[in-house]
Amino acid sequence: MRDQQTRTIFRTSKLEEACGPGLNPTGSRTMGEIIAARFSRRGFLKGSMAVTAISATVSPIALLSASDAQASSASAFNFPEVTAGVDANHHVAQGHDADVLLRWGDKVFADAPDFDPLNQSEAAQERQFGYNNDFVGFIPLEGADDRGLLVVNHEYTDEHLMFPGIVTLKDGEIAVSEADETRVNIEMAAHGGTIIEIRRVDGKWQPMLDGALNRRITAKTAMELTGPAAGHARLRTVADPSGTKVLGTINNCAGGVTPWGTWIMAEENIHGYFMGELPQGHPEAANYERLGIPEATYAWGRFHKRFDVSKDPNEANRFGWVVEVDVMDPTSTPKKRTALGRFKHEGAESVVAKDGRVVFYLGDDERFDYVYKFVTAGRYDPDDRAANMDLLDDGTLYVARFHDDGRVEWLPLVHGQGPLTAANGFASQADVLIETRRAADLLEATPMDRPEDIQPNPLTGRAYVMLTNNTKRKEANAANPRVENAFGHIIEIIEADGDFTATTGTWEILVKCGDPKIAAVGATFSTETTVNGWFGMPDNAAVDRDGRLWVSTDGNSMKGTGRTDGLWAVDTEGAARGTSRLFYRVPVGAEMCGPCITGDMTTFFVAVQHPGDGGEDWEGHGRPSYYEDLSTRWPDFDDAMPVRPAVVAITRQGGGRIG
Ligand code: FEO
Ligand code: CA
Ligand code: CA
Ligand code: CA
Repeated sequence: MRDQQTRTIFRTSKLEEACGPGLNPTGSRTMGEIIAARFSRRGFLKGSMAVTAISATVSPIALLSASDAQASSASAFNFPEVTAGVDANHHVAQGHDADVLLRWGDKVFADAPDFDPLNQSEAAQERQFGYNNDFVGFIPLEGADDRGLLVVNHEYTDEHLMFPGIVTLKDGEIAVSEADETRVNIEMAAHGGTIIEIRRVDGKWQPMLDGALNRRITAKTAMELTGPAAGHARLRTVADPSGTKVLGTINNCAGGVTPWGTWIMAEENIHGYFMGELPQGHPEAANYERLGIPEATYAWGRFHKRFDVSKDPNEANRFGWVVEVDVMDPTSTPKKRTALGRFKHEGAESVVAKDGRVVFYLGDDERFDYVYKFVTAGRYDPDDRAANMDLLDDGTLYVARFHDDGRVEWLPLVHGQGPLTAANGFASQADVLIETRRAADLLEATPMDRPEDIQPNPLTGRAYVMLTNNTKRKEANAANPRVENAFGHIIEIIEADGDFTATTGTWEILVKCGDPKIAAVGATFSTETTVNGWFGMPDNAAVDRDGRLWVSTDGNSMKGTGRTDGLWAVDTEGAARGTSRLFYRVPVGAEMCGPCITGDMTTFFVAVQHPGDGGEDWEGHGRPSYYEDLSTRWPDFDDAMPVRPAVVAITRQGGGRIG
């Protein structure tokens, strides 16, 4: 989702306040306790880590020119870097093709109606590719490199870019008319996700509209709540006295593909879908306040009373979970796995640990919220898919405390342990999971600068935490070292003995982001990084088969950086550690989501989210962007077509390995 600090669309909402620091009351307290020692970590550094720390301490003007970079040799990457900038189109490294594979409104089924933006309907949208693609995963079919399922999250909708005739300009800013029922139902159908078979024919990927496993999931798809909180009284609603059946999934940001080939859709900013006020003195008041519920960005509650907390107060407890989808059965019921906790889930990338248990890394994307991981109780069986299908219902959820001496501790969120008792309002594990944030507050986890995607590297036993930004931070600490952190940073977690199930480890800052030539920013890219290579606001990440890190960003074009978001290759090893170079950049207004590199490393699938959203800061437009006055009409550049979020397949010309 677009960086909410800069979101300027007015529905009936005030998103900015909901993301503010008030949501985590423990934020500043914990910071103060460790501030005194914030720069005293030298005693911890030794061996190669010390080398790393020194090489990351760049002077503010140490960037290479683009041409000098070609001589750089220590990097694990080898491609001609894209020139950073902002324009109406996307750009990929020379020698590669970036082909649009699926756009909003494209058919997912052979019998779907053609996209008609002037006459969109719920029924059509339910058969077409949804809006604002975020997570992208690729699940090979029968082990083939050239045939598989593409799974894509549709995080949210941008009405001002989607619908004609609903925007007026007030004082130079966009005002969007209140949605009627037809529009609400189209919005709900444009949310969720898409499963579609794709094949590579003559080197080019194409969707198979007759794929037997093709599926649209929406905000109305029947789902099941499973795990320790399923059926709990707090999950029972007017429509579902069982507390186990829920309709739909919303704001699915990043996600994951499990080792057994299911698809994880993470429910993130769920607060914006609920309106109304809880009845006076309602027991969920504190729980909802901690998540910013209700927020009423969307008008869904006017037509679907479950989204009005005054009418069905418990419905919001049925969102904010991790959803698992069995992609091999298009009639399967997606499962909301309560064992992984309830918060603003960014994603859920996983890795098989040495002993066969599976570890999921989870970020809670809010200023001053936390980093989590979940360790399954059972072991993954690579020879028995069915035996793995409910691994996510039983395991231990941990939250991270980042010590200023470079240690990380994983604290178990287990009912009855420590403060997680009835005396503090937790009568069972279900209560711990429904109010995960409050439980983590009591454990004194470390409030972070908006944890986004966390990507484990199975080759090294490390994990990379994208911390996108936090301009509200007033006090720094070692793991969040900059006040008013506008550009974010990346933390590398080194699990003890390379064991992902470990409850202790160490951590390092891989890079502090932003423009290194502005000393006040305090960025720490390596001196091999070029003027094109630095970035801000890391959001999603991928680790390729060779263990190399790729990072995508959200918000660069909004911060007056003179560059759009994109996909960067970031060295993590040896002398090149902390070197970044630009591989692909998106059109104006867009954010870069879903980097997914295939196992054979010949294709990068990337998701261009909310292109054309914004244009005020770009001299090529210089005013708000909306349906009738768009800053770009990417990817069609057809006056009859609006701008469309799309998934792009990047391949090397003539084939071969990327990067
Ligand atoms: Fe949907 Fe945290 O980005
Ligand atoms: Ca985002
Ligand atoms: Ca994200
Ligand atoms: Ca990822």
